[in-house]
Amino acid sequence: MTKVARALLMSLLTVALVSPASGTDKVELSIDLSKAGAKIDRNIFGQFAEHLGHGIYDGIWVGTDSSIPNTRGIRKDVVAALKAIKVPNVRWPGGCFADEYHWRNGIGPHRNVTLNPNWGGVIEPNSFGTHEFMDFIGQIGSNAYVSVNVGSGTPHEGADWMEYMTAAQPTTLAKERAANGHPDPYKVAILGVGNESWDCGGNMSPEYYVSQAKIYTRFVRNYNPAQQKGNEEMLKVAVGPGGKEPRFTDWTETVMKAYRQHTWSWDIQGLSMHNYTVLDWQNKLNSTNFGEAEYAKVLKATLEMDALVNQYSGIMDKYDPEKKVALFVDEWGSWYAPLPGTNPGFLVQQNSVRDAILTALNLNIFARHADRVRGANIAQMINVLQAMILTDKEKMVLTPTYYVFKMYVPFQDATFVPVSFDAGTYTQGDIKLPRVDALAAKDSAGKLWLEITNVDANVAADVEVSLPGAKSASGETLTAPKVDSINTFDAPNTVTPKPISARVEGGKLMLKLQPKSVTVVRVEQ
Ligand code: AHR
Repeated sequence: MTKVARALLMSLLTVALVSPASGTDKVELSIDLSKAGAKIDRNIFGQFAEHLGHGIYDGIWVGTDSSIPNTRGIRKDVVAALKAIKVPNVRWPGGCFADEYHWRNGIGPHRNVTLNPNWGGVIEPNSFGTHEFMDFIGQIGSNAYVSVNVGSGTPHEGADWMEYMTAAQPTTLAKERAANGHPDPYKVAILGVGNESWDCGGNMSPEYYVSQAKIYTRFVRNYNPAQQKGNEEMLKVAVGPGGKEPRFTDWTETVMKAYRQHTWSWDIQGLSMHNYTVLDWQNKLNSTNFGEAEYAKVLKATLEMDALVNQYSGIMDKYDPEKKVALFVDEWGSWYAPLPGTNPGFLVQQNSVRDAILTALNLNIFARHADRVRGANIAQMINVLQAMILTDKEKMVLTPTYYVFKMYVPFQDATFVPVSFDAGTYTQGDIKLPRVDALAAKDSAGKLWLEITNVDANVAADVEVSLPGAKSASGETLTAPKVDSINTFDAPNTVTPKPISARVEGGKLMLKLQPKSVTVVRVEQ
């Protein structure tokens, strides 16, 4: 037998072995346009940028003297890439870093050099501070989500920072801001009141945290005249649960009970939730060179997000049935072992097809809970954990996760439309997962968008969508040859979206979706 014939026989055998027992790979979807749901808040596509490893320094900030093309010290290539995914907000400066951050170190012509004890114990030059962050936010056309230091700071320090950023009247702090180059007040869209105050943010009891949150939300005021009553008001997000440990039930109950009894003098509009996809904190999986077993394990773990959102939304419903307080999943994403040869404190990992699927599954979970989940921030934007972008000196590469965020842009602020389907089952060893997932929404122009994820690593899905009146559908699909396919600086286009079109027959759209793929199409009616 020739080499070619043997290869062909092997691939036929492989297909036969992995085909589902039922022998069918058809999935029927129906969309009920008469039952529009909640708005999918664009803030669920938020990003997180912490002073950690090369997230800020090298990732965003290269300094004005750098040979890397920059605008006032901020990388041009990164700005252009982020503009294209319409980042709604960026959470900064941390993370654990935020509860040790003293804003005065990062303003003015002379910066204090400090340390970053959480993340590798390296020098923190503070060259990227308030003005640089706000400049970056302006360059990418986003909004600021600023986390104030509740752990090692004081309400006084936090109040001064906010006055420095937002006061329009000529106070001493506003004049100092002007002297540092920005006469106009900045807008701060979202304020994080501490970070993980139950652990790195100060190991507080829920009762102690609530007493702090009341003080901070009272005194850390936004003075920007454009952000007063009813007009772009700043959202204050309190610290909420961090995963499924039992202690977080008590934490969430305590914060929400306090919220229910809140008076005119303090308030919150959001409760944060952190949840990483990690199987074993002591023995993390690798982000490269893995097989289908690890693909399935990670996706099974990531689907736990739905149960957590349900659990904590349930507690919130008890104290806030009107859903005034948003659940902000402001840290989420995959957390793997650090890449060999990197500083373990820098949390450097690669990003594969598996992460693309993981992203779509999580975004769909958030969208299905759009009435409560009105914010989410993937961790983290550049060079850290499940990043959008990886950089190495002058080089930049966009990750599979980046491309999924790009494909989902039409879902920002679109209206959720229910899709029903029998997902079927994808089996890998003893793991069983829904074979497909789907999301539909109408944008502000009334256009219908459909996302379908084929989780199955081996079998294509023939999708049939009943949609009377549908004329055509086209968009993009993202996949790659292997579950661990990645983009690298040398091969940046291994995992990128490609055009896809549907066949239309008798009011039915038909799409063939490749294994392990994410597809977004616009339906013409
Ligand atoms: O994203 C990395 C770290 O994870 C954050 O600093 C912290 O909030 C969380 O534990």
